Amino acid sequence: MSRDSLVEIKDHFRGQFSKYTRKAFHMLPKLEKPHILDIGCGSGVPTIELAKLSDGEIIGIDINQPLLDKLNRKIEEEGFSDRVKTVKCSLFEIDFPDESFDIIWAEGSIWIIGFEKGLKEWRRLLKPNGFLVVHDEIKTVSNKLEKIPSCGYKLINHFSLPEDAWWTEYCKPLEIRIKEIYMKFKNNSEAFKILRKYQNEIDMVKRNPKEHCSAFYIMKKS
Ligand SMILES: C[S@@+](CC[C@H](N)C(=O)[O-])C[C@H]1O[C@@H](n2cnc3c(N)ncnc32)[C@H](O)[C@@H]1O
Repeated sequence: MSRDSLVEIKDHFRGQFSKYTRKAFHMLPKLEKPHILDIGCGSGVPTIELAKLSDGEIIGIDINQPLLDKLNRKIEEEGFSDRVKTVKCSLFEIDFPDESFDIIWAEGSIWIIGFEKGLKEWRRLLKPNGFLVVHDEIKTVSNKLEKIPSCGYKLINHFSLPEDAWWTEYCKPLEIRIKEIYMKFKNNSEAFKILRKYQNEIDMVKRNPKEHCSAFYIMKKS
């Protein structure tokens, strides 16, 4: 089993959360052929969902080339090559021109730069009245909600995932799957290392499922 198929296993369970991506997307007004930037797209579970939800052009950026390669294969398989592409680029060094995008989407990535800094730095990339959708941890939610206006946005909506969603919908089924395949890879050191890494992430959530609650923030550039 290759590194790629291990990413596929993770993506399969990550796909359980696509319903929340859809919920957030449907909180936006209908936009014709929106230009969307997916920041920290990884292997693109939300990117592909956005391509299904919209008729827009989507650019996914990430620093991890193997994950982008995986996403590139999905783009081709799903028939989105004419309007979805990936760019290897750090979210600290995004150099698209000002006002390039109608929507910026960031699931699980804003913590890398920080909520407030991300909002401020990414604002220039949005067209007037463009939208920023962030999926981030729920800790300090009131603090985050307070910061939104001073960062140049209006909060359109926000919602939390069910308190135990990361455990019941993602980590628990992923752990069961990992247990099923673990011993098969005891002689494949690369795969074994990846599975250990997944298991460590699972253990963190397992120890305190409610600590890992997350929320979507849907904002409009003001
Ligand atoms: C938690 S994953 C989220 C992936 C995807 N958005 C999702 O929801 O499934 C965070 C992603 O941020 C990427 N990342 C980490 N540091 C980054 C950086 N400096 N610039 C761009 N992407 C980065 C990682 O490679 C990873 O794919």
